[in-house]
This record gives sequence, structure tokens and C-alpha cells, in this order.
Amino acid sequence: MRRKLVAGNWKMHGTRDMALSLVRDIAAKQPDGTEVVVFPPFPYLDPLIRAHGDVLGFGGQDVSEHDQPGAWTGEISAAMLEDIGCAWALVGHSERRQHHHEGNAQVAAKFAAARQAGLLPMLCVGETKEQRDAGCTEAVLTEQLSAVIEAAGIEAFRDAVVAYEPIWAIGTGTTATPEQVQQAHSFIRSLLAAGDAKISGLTRVLYGGSVKPANAAVLFAQADVDGGLIGGASLTADDFLAICAAAQSCA
Ligand code: PGA
Repeated sequence: MRRKLVAGNWKMHGTRDMALSLVRDIAAKQPDGTEVVVFPPFPYLDPLIRAHGDVLGFGGQDVSEHDQPGAWTGEISAAMLEDIGCAWALVGHSERRQHHHEGNAQVAAKFAAARQAGLLPMLCVGETKEQRDAGCTEAVLTEQLSAVIEAAGIEAFRDAVVAYEPIWAIGTGTTATPEQVQQAHSFIRSLLAAGDAKISGLTRVLYGGSVKPANAAVLFAQADVDGGLIGGASLTADDFLAICAAAQSCA
């Protein structure tokens, strides 16, 4: 049985005060049984972990692929995240792939660096609208996931999480249909199963892309959907908590 997981990716939003009050509300009211992880901007991680690291999971929105200390101005290593109490690192988010030109090899290196430092990677994969319209969704998912499986090994997926985030659904208000989501998730699971059936059965696959309180329950009820990676709706405690409750009701 895979435990439902809801993660909030704040992206570059918020202030220290907003971060502290949002996480205080989430920590106070999160439902039992569902795992909740928050990815705030880097500067707020340490105070938030000090205040609520006992009840919520925290992670970096990105992580360096360089696993040794060195002259990498602006980079944040997996070891640093682990040092301040993070358990997670988001890797391969489409905004990093798109705006920072991160390719599959770099994403795979980040995944491996996170793993090596003892962090759980949350690997984002997903196709553009053009790729979907051209019937290339499965080819894109194969390319993105296989790059990481080949570089890090299927064993590295033990306890890791894959987030299926179709780019056309992120921040657009257009959510993928439950059927589209289930189809992509079951395909992702089949790719993992080609490496190791047991790991595939245990790996949580989250959906991300315009998840809201109104659509969360029907998405999370799909057989291969183990929760969600939430952007916009994770910035409001009531919305995020309603999504956590939806996950709980599908557990
Ligand atoms: P969204 O973002 O929920 O605002 O669509 C999801 C994400 O980018 O992780």
C-alpha cells in the first residue's frame, strides 16, 4: 500500500512572515495519514524546519548536481540541504528544464547527487502541449525517466517519488483529465517495472498541474495516482489543506 503524499511547491513566492504563517497553519491542521512535504524558497527553509520540521517534510526546489564542495557560485548542494534538515529535493521541474535549460543528463546528475547525500528526490517529468498533440507523450516520458534510471540505477528509485506534470497543465487552470492522468501514471509505472517490479509497485507517482480543492479527489482516486505536487494552490493554507484532505479521503 502506497501512502498518499501531497507536496507544495511555492516556487518564487512569499515573504518570511507569509512563509511562517502558512506553514504554521498547515502543520496545525494537516490530516493524519497523508504525508505532507513543503518546498519553500531556499532562504525560508531553515527557520521553517526549525519551527515545524517535526511534523512536516521539507525540501529544496532544486539541488546542485555537484556533490563536492567547490567553486560553484550560487549553487546549493544536497549535503547542505540535508545538513539543515531537509529530507527532499525537487529535481527536473519543467520550469528548470525550460528556463534554465536543464537537460535529462543534468537532471539525472541532480537526482544522483540528492540520493548520495541521503535526500529523497522528487523527479518531475511531463510533456508539452505540442508533444501531446503530436502523440509523443509516452516517448517524452520514456526519455525523461530512462535517462535517470540509466544514470542512477533503478535501486535509486526506492522511496523516491516521480511527479507527472504535463507542462500544459502547470499554472494554466487546465487540469489533465483523470483518464489522461491515470494513463500517464500507469505508463510511468510500467517503465519503472521494466527495471524492478517491486520498486515500481512501491514508488509513489504524483500528479501536478492545476490541482485545486475542487478536482483533487477525482484525480487522487485514480489507481496509480498517489497524491499531488501543488503549485498555486499550495500558497493558501485552506486550499492546500483541502487538497490534503482529498488525498486522505482517497487513501
Ligand atoms: P500548479 O503548479 O499547481 O500551479 O499548476 C504545479 C507545479 O508546477 O508543480
